[in-house]
Amino acid sequence: MTDKMNFTRADFPPGFAFGVATSAYQIEGHAQGGAGRTHWDDFAATPGNVVRAENGARACDHYTRWPEDLDLIRDAGFDIYRFSASWARVMPEGRGAVNAAGLDFYERLVDGMLARGLKPALTLYHWELPSPLADLGGWRNRDIASWFAEYTEALCRRIGDRLWSVAPVNEPWCVGWLSHFLGQHAPGLRDIRATAHAMHHVGLAHGRAIQVMRGLGMGNLGAVCNFEYALPRTDSPADHAAARLYDGIYNRLFLGAMFRGQYPADVLDGLGPHMPKGWEADMATIAQPLDWLGVNYYTCKRIAHAPGPWPAVSEHLGDLPQTQMGWEICPEGLHHFLHFAQSYANGLPIYVTENGMANPDQPGQPDGARIDYLNQHIAAARRAMAEGVRLEGYIIWSLLDNYEWSLGYEKRFGLVHVDFESLQRQPKASYHALKAALARS
Ligand code: FCB
Repeated sequence: MTDKMNFTRADFPPGFAFGVATSAYQIEGHAQGGAGRTHWDDFAATPGNVVRAENGARACDHYTRWPEDLDLIRDAGFDIYRFSASWARVMPEGRGAVNAAGLDFYERLVDGMLARGLKPALTLYHWELPSPLADLGGWRNRDIASWFAEYTEALCRRIGDRLWSVAPVNEPWCVGWLSHFLGQHAPGLRDIRATAHAMHHVGLAHGRAIQVMRGLGMGNLGAVCNFEYALPRTDSPADHAAARLYDGIYNRLFLGAMFRGQYPADVLDGLGPHMPKGWEADMATIAQPLDWLGVNYYTCKRIAHAPGPWPAVSEHLGDLPQTQMGWEICPEGLHHFLHFAQSYANGLPIYVTENGMANPDQPGQPDGARIDYLNQHIAAARRAMAEGVRLEGYIIWSLLDNYEWSLGYEKRFGLVHVDFESLQRQPKASYHALKAALARS
């Protein structure tokens, strides 16, 4: 294990941007400032869904401690801060009345970034759906595209003139598949029809939000998708076919829709019968022209054929070293997906919008494992760049230890340690290593 990054800023083209990412519900402390209830509060309050039934009510208290957090980002030499806004903080009921304190908060935050020379990279939706909209069916209801457009307009009319970039929805696969098919995230459904509807409506909401922002004269609008490297568990033709289908559902569905206006045929074989009526007519809205594509990447999976109804696949672990999440460390997958992203993005800039690892960090104990992980993945990215991939930035998940969704607070992804009792922040060795690598000489 090492205490140094294996690169410096000078190894990258001028203008290449480094950043850190967080999201609203995971750090803000959602009980404060007049925010409405979200489906994550409800999911967490239901026994068995979240480790120790933890929720985001207090989280890192970023709502009040944001100046200190922005100072940490600036002091490490990062260029971009990728953050998200909470729909329920802006509109507690999800529609209609706006929470003035919520809009004021995001304005303070963005102005605070600009004052520190940071580029604000906003995500409009990082999973905290207002509960009143969940009551109406949430992502299963086609009207969500209009509700989302209304929220987008309310927020962007206030801060849209000061943002560096915007992506509508963080990780559409998680909003659709993980939450409605695998049941692991709110609303915790396991239902193929709900999944097909949610997958489609996420794309539609994305497209409508892009249209709203173009209408407001905003630029640098993109999409942030997550990818998982699907490797066949064995060399059998059945496992190869299973891995290909898994790749379709996970990696090709949203890029196909957003960049080509088409869902992949192999995924439609299974989802087609469950899709909302008339979905074909929405594809042009989903495929709005974009300015960049963001790649979130963490790991690979070994995929096997599993007897049963479509998609008849099962996920397994291989023998690479694992992170605290139990995810294999597989930088080769990042290299693969940067080329993959480029094959869809038609020459647009690509960003790594999330990459990082959870580690059982103790304050004061060097997180060499995280430095190794980042070194390996950044090396894979440089290899892709040398081969011609137009990668223009690299954003690390995450600034702070935070609420890791159904796994609660024990999975630590931060470059900065957070004591969830005192809320004290303490930069880890990885933070210091990055600070040294990013220093401008
Ligand atoms: C991503 C999410 C982020 C965090 C990391 C570990 O899927 O966007 O909120 O949970 O994984």
